[in-house]
Amino acid sequence: MSGEEKVVCVTGASGYIASWLVKLLLERGFRVKASVRDPDDPRKTEHLLSLEGAKERLHLLRADLLEEGAFDALVEGCEGVFHTASPTTLSANDPQAELIEPAVKGTLNVLRSCVKVPSVKRVVITSSIASILNNGKPLNSDEIADETWFSDPVYCEENKLWYILSKTLAEEAAWKFAKENGIDLVTIHPGVVIGPLLQPTLNLSSEMFINLIKGGAKAFPFPVCRIVDIRDVAFTHIQALEVPSASGRYCLVGHVVHIYEALKILKELYPALSLPEECEDEKPLLPKHQVSKEKAKSLVVNFTSLEVSFRDTIESLKEKGFIDI
Ligand SMILES: NC(=O)c1ccc[n+]([C@@H]2O[C@H](COP(=O)([O-])OP(=O)(O)OC[C@H]3O[C@@H](n4cnc5c(N)ncnc54)[C@H](OP(=O)(O)O)[C@@H]3O)[C@@H](O)[C@H]2O)c1
Repeated sequence: MSGEEKVVCVTGASGYIASWLVKLLLERGFRVKASVRDPDDPRKTEHLLSLEGAKERLHLLRADLLEEGAFDALVEGCEGVFHTASPTTLSANDPQAELIEPAVKGTLNVLRSCVKVPSVKRVVITSSIASILNNGKPLNSDEIADETWFSDPVYCEENKLWYILSKTLAEEAAWKFAKENGIDLVTIHPGVVIGPLLQPTLNLSSEMFINLIKGGAKAFPFPVCRIVDIRDVAFTHIQALEVPSASGRYCLVGHVVHIYEALKILKELYPALSLPEECEDEKPLLPKHQVSKEKAKSLVVNFTSLEVSFRDTIESLKEKGFIDI
């Protein structure tokens, strides 16, 4: 489907996921209004401005999540709104100020702007598998998580899972506000996103991937990875806007693999990779939660293979000088 003449906006456009989303939207002929925190910082804008179609159809606007009304001008005239901006850090000295407030208040700030604009037909929010899986149930069972699962804010708080809490509370607030104000909302819940980077800086999930290939399983925060390719994520966001029947929450995980399985594939792809010995370990692996793809299949038919995602991530990180293999 062509986006010719359609105007959409993307918040947090300089980020990893949003940059790919902007790229795909421009390729499909959409006019894109994109918010960045600092339009004067070339590291946040140059990669966007050099995209195919950007000269004609990309408009950058300044907006901060915590500034009331900052997204009014962005949303004005748009049919679709993609809200991706949210703080992405696993460590915070002041979780309330650094993570929770910008995530929750920022989401409501964007949605309040949407309510003022009658042209907005649908809002797509980048949530996370984090707001689905963290309910205290052991993740080493062989159950299948799906869109009916909700993370438990009390569990997150007790375990100081601040990023996860920020995504859980932001999603909760979004659904409440959308229902009260008649907004057609779709939330996308990706696992750990990997794949080539467009931006020149390192985002959290790419940094986690570098830690994995440099430090092995011990350097990765979870024993099991729930992985999805960046191109599938960007594509699914557009589908979530374009497919009329899209609604509710969508888990978006292409592959669930034990960290040792991931390391084994990486070693096969890059024999020169010097990984800790643990990846040779053949001990039986614990059962792992699967994540349902049933609902996501209505938006994305084929998930990129792990091999392609791993290879393209490594090649991109090499090209940008973040790793040397
Ligand atoms: N990557 C993953 O594995 C993954 C998985 C699941 C969900 N997600 C979600 O996907 C979204 C994008 O993540 P990403 O991986 O693309 O991370 P990213 O590259 O760090 O992008 C985050 C974006 O949010 C913006 N932002 C943060 N605080 C802001 C504020 N106060 N005001 C305005 N903008 C602000 C950042 O702007 P600056 O560039 O100015 O800092 C950046 O553009 C997030 O909602 C994240 O929770 C990511």
